[in-house]
Amino acid sequence: MEFSREGSSRLPGFYALPVSERADITARFSHLNVGEKESLNNFGSLSGELVDIFIENAVGCFSLPLGIATNFSINKRDILVPMAVEETSVIAAASHGAKLARYGGGFQTRSTEPIMTGQIQLILEEPGDFDTILAAEKEQLLAYANRGQDRLLRRGGGAKDLTWYYIPAIKSLVILVHVHTGDAMGANIVNTMVEKLSTFMPELFPACELGLRILTNLTDRRMAFAECTIPPEAFTQSEQDGAYVIDRIVQAWHFAWHDTYRAATHNKGVMNGIDPVLIATGNDWRAIEAGAHAYCSRDGHYRPMTMWRKTQSGQLHGSIELPMAVGTVGGVTKLHPTAQAALKLLGRPSAQELGEIVCAVGLAQNLSALRALATEGIQHGHMGLHQKNLDLIQRQANVFA
Ligand code: MEV
Repeated sequence: MEFSREGSSRLPGFYALPVSERADITARFSHLNVGEKESLNNFGSLSGELVDIFIENAVGCFSLPLGIATNFSINKRDILVPMAVEETSVIAAASHGAKLARYGGGFQTRSTEPIMTGQIQLILEEPGDFDTILAAEKEQLLAYANRGQDRLLRRGGGAKDLTWYYIPAIKSLVILVHVHTGDAMGANIVNTMVEKLSTFMPELFPACELGLRILTNLTDRRMAFAECTIPPEAFTQSEQDGAYVIDRIVQAWHFAWHDTYRAATHNKGVMNGIDPVLIATGNDWRAIEAGAHAYCSRDGHYRPMTMWRKTQSGQLHGSIELPMAVGTVGGVTKLHPTAQAALKLLGRPSAQELGEIVCAVGLAQNLSALRALATEGIQHGHMGLHQKNLDLIQRQANVFA
């Protein structure tokens, strides 16, 4: 294929080329030297073939460090947690938070069934008696949605419920389809079902105009929870009183509860723990981010993802609850060798168990950040680790000078 127009990003047929040719064209376009091109066109633990299957227009892989967070005890089981992340001190902090939680027996977790939700939007000038119509047709609609989903049904999954509401401002009847997706994240299952079900709608609502048909990432029927209770001794150091640290952590949490600027940073710290586990296990971290932030805004204010309070006996109690649409089968999770190894490290969890682990890591990460912020500040520990990066950058700068 000829890409003759120098400097043009119009590359018809680019998608159909082999990965190496795409990399050549990209390198020529941007005048990359040999080393720079090699940095783009390498595959780490993936094959070029796999990369090409995962995404379009692939030219190579982007590597992230993969590390192991230690000290985690979840429901009395010790696990090593794989985390793929570029930020210095995240894994050290997660491990430290887990160590603090161990003083109180580690993390306890639970979760709801893996129910994903899809939306069908029907634009209806005159909504009429949609309640009566949908209530009468509900079972038939569910049966229709489940047609052809034999494998999912055999595993106990499938469309389980329909709910709906009307939004007068946009004259939209929104039908929610709630689907048990088993150990799959389930985006494809749900999107297939809502598209299929929507073909039924003009029959039920002849005057309707079909709007969007897509899952929601606010998967509030697919939730995971984690908590821990930590005695003051865990925070006691020579010049530091544990009870005082607990008060400071609770105070820091109140700051996030009442202030959106602080809540955003607080939650960024929680996601510091969550995203790396999602990435390491091949999960869609953007979906979890979107759902988590939306869930935190459910009372009309953006709130912290975690909650920290002092118990009557003076211990620190922390908890987290988040929508958790993760999968352990199918898609990237299944095909990516590192994701497979990461899941094995975690003891081959079900999707629900993985969601619980993810929540526990988010809570540990947040605890560690709040402890540092509430006492010596984060730069003390962070900069020690960060200094190694700065030294390396300086050494490289000297080499290339
Ligand atoms: C840095 O990546 C995360 C923190 O800012 C989180 C927080 O402030 O709670 C330390």
